[in-house]
Order: sequence, then structure tokens, then C-alpha cells
Amino acid sequence: MTYKSIKGTRDILPSESWKWQWAEEKIRDVMHAFNFREIRTPVFEETPLFARSIGELTDIVSKEMYTFQDRSGDSLSLRPEMTASVVRAYIQHSLGEHSPLVKLYYMGPMFRQERPQAGRLRQFHQFGAEAIGAQNPTLDVEMIALAIAIYEALGVKKTTLKINSVGCEKCRPPYKEMLKQRLWKVRNELSQESQRRLESNPLRVLDSKAEEDRRAIADMPLLKDHLCPDCLAHFNDVIGGLVGLGIGYEEDGHLVRGLDYYTKTAFEIISKDLGAQDALTGGGRYDLLTEELGGKPTPGIGFAAGIERLMMVLEKQKLFPDGATRTTLFIATLGREAQRWAVKQALELRSRGLCVELDFLDRSLKSQMREADRLRARYVMIVGENEMVNRTVTIKTMETGEQKSVTFDDVTNFFDISYNQ
Ligand code: HAM
Repeated sequence: MTYKSIKGTRDILPSESWKWQWAEEKIRDVMHAFNFREIRTPVFEETPLFARSIGELTDIVSKEMYTFQDRSGDSLSLRPEMTASVVRAYIQHSLGEHSPLVKLYYMGPMFRQERPQAGRLRQFHQFGAEAIGAQNPTLDVEMIALAIAIYEALGVKKTTLKINSVGCEKCRPPYKEMLKQRLWKVRNELSQESQRRLESNPLRVLDSKAEEDRRAIADMPLLKDHLCPDCLAHFNDVIGGLVGLGIGYEEDGHLVRGLDYYTKTAFEIISKDLGAQDALTGGGRYDLLTEELGGKPTPGIGFAAGIERLMMVLEKQKLFPDGATRTTLFIATLGREAQRWAVKQALELRSRGLCVELDFLDRSLKSQMREADRLRARYVMIVGENEMVNRTVTIKTMETGEQKSVTFDDVTNFFDISYNQ
């Protein structure tokens, strides 16, 4: 009996993990440049936290959460997203008391029991950012600019920003009622899924991708045209800010997002280099969430982005750097004495930051050289009996083929000079 990873989960093997680290480092750099600080929260929380924030009737909570009872009978869930946990931590640790605007970022695994397909997993990873404490529309612009700056730092091309307003507790309920009535009239033309949603979450019918739904909802009224003056002014202000920064956008009146906590601004960044699951990033404002979770009324806005989807785009657009995983030096050895010397020399060089590999399999010189090639070592050093007697090695620079004879005492110095140039 052998075991396999669970459907919808993936191992990130060394051939790939360096790509993740490369991207994660760039993401962190941009987050820090925007003065966001990292928060790490537990991967499981009390189930009601997610039910309250994301919404009982959403697909995420009603169909996709990994919910279980622990041994004391409490209902716990693996986090399907981070905003709920971040706001919980914000309230629990009174973060708002230290700073009126709290800017947090995160990276980590999320869990949703969705039907796995390209770009859709059951354990997937997100990076994201939340800014809690300000209602200023310029902050919405800054958050969008942050997401875009990250894709730019990674070199990602051809993304599209879609933006909409989902209104607030004043303008959304009457619109929802009107939409429901209009949808009822065409309910027989709607997909099964949308018919089911009609009662529970009519707004979600609007962003259905099913062909029959698209046709049936083509001329439905849009919330955008029924916003209250406050939401409309906010939306126009955000659009003005985007224009001011030269950020291209598409207004999409059908963009409603699958989480209930949103108010006003909602946005997505999509890529044509992804398949059906084309959203790289989703986010928006959640001005009522902190209060909903028992905190003082505090507005907030954030976004999260799928890292697996980012990886797919980076791969497709060939953006990973060449040589990021190259070994600096391979020390080929012949005999135990040479091996011992090499281990010691390797320690010294590694403490200076070089990536050094040597042979532990007592391989022939020929097969050690093959290994050095496989590792794409920049330098190779051969240490055999003669070298041990003469206390001198030959260091070969693989790219140029140049060889240099260096005494044992000078090896460290050689790399201090050549490698750091
Ligand atoms: P979301 O739209 O559910 O929003 O997820 C954000 C991103 O996570 C998606 O655009 C997608 O790239 C990725 N993603 C979601 N589900 C999967 C999956 N099953 N497999 C692979 N990738 C996936 C949120 O999670 C909100 N918390 C965003 C937010 C933060 N809003 C305000 N602050």
C-alpha cells in the first residue's frame, strides 16, 4: 500500500519551490515598500468566524469549508481565506489602538473543497494585504496600486483590472429585491445553479459564467446604476484616482465577488494567460466587517491573490530567472583524506554564503564531473592524492573553461575575490 497526496492538493517539489521563493521574496519586497507588515494567523479557527464574515449562504461557507469537530466537540474550520482571521486578530489584539491605520500582509495556505481543475485546488496559497482603519477612497486606489506593483515587480504582463461598486447596507437591499423580482421573470431560462441562488444570493447570478445565464441577465439592472449618493461619490473618487495614476481599468457591473462582507469597491485582476479560472487577485472594501465581528466600527479594504495561478502566469510568460538554483562550487574528491579536507573547506565557503556541494557516494571522478554538470556548478575544484600532497588545487571556472592553480590557504580568498565580483 502506498499513499498519495489528497485530490486537489499538491507537493511543491524542489524543481518548483525555488520559483515560489523567488516570487515570494519579490512580493515581500513590494509589501514592505508600501509599509505593510506581515501577520501570521492559525490555519484553523472557530467555524462561526467564517460563517459570520464570509456569509452562511455563500458557496465557500455552505459547500466548501473543511469543517470538523475537535475532541472537545467544538466546530472548527480550516481557513478558506484570510480576511476573517486578520480582522479577528485586529480586534483581539486591539491593533487599532496602536495605529489608526493598520496595514497587514500575509502569505500562506487556504482550504476550500472545490472541484479541482487547472488553477483551482483544495489547498491553495494566497498572498494578500489588508488596510484597516480608513474609508478614504484614495486608500482603495493605493491598494489596487499595491497589487499592480507586485505584478509589475514580477514582470507579469497583460493583466486587466476589473472594478465595480457593490454598494452598502443602504442601497444594496432595495436593489437586491428589485433584481430578485426581475430574475424571477426569467427563472426558467437560468441555469440550475442560478435558480438555486435566486433566493439565497441573487447578486451572484450576475457573475455566473454559464452561457444561458449570460443571455438571460444581459439586460438586468445593475447595482452601479442604483448606488446611493455616498457610494456613487466614493466610486467616482476611486476611478478618478486610478485615472490619475494612469492605471487602466474596466468597469464591470457584473462583478459581485463570492464573499458577503464587501461594501462599495470590489475589484479583480484577471489574466488571459489563465484558463477558465482567470482571476489572479480579488479584493474590495469591507466597512462593516469589524463591527460585525464584535469590534468597534472600523472600515477596511484588502485583496488576496492566488499563488498557484501566479505561478502559472509566470511560467507561461517565461519570467523565472535562469540560474537561480545553480550551485556555486562542486568539490570533486578522490579518497577519504581529500573528502575530509573538502568538508572543512566547504564549511568555510558556505559560511560566506556560497552554495557548495561535494560527493558522498565515493563516485569516480567522471561521474562526479557529470554531477557537477547536472548541478550547473559555476566552479569545480578537484582534490585527489596529489593535491593533498602539494596542498594546491585547480579551480575551473565552468563558463569560460579557465583553470587556476590555487594553494589551500588561498582557496577562500580566491572565492572572496572571484565570486563577489
Ligand atoms: P477570493 O476571490 O475568494 O478572495 O480569492 C482571491 C484569489 O485567491 C482568487 O482570485 C484566486 O487567485 C485565488 N483562489 C481562490 N480560490 C482558489 C482555489 N480554490 N484554488 C486556487 N486559487 C484560488 C478572497 O479570498 C478574499 N479574502 C480577498 C480579500 C482580501 N478581500 C478583501 N481582503
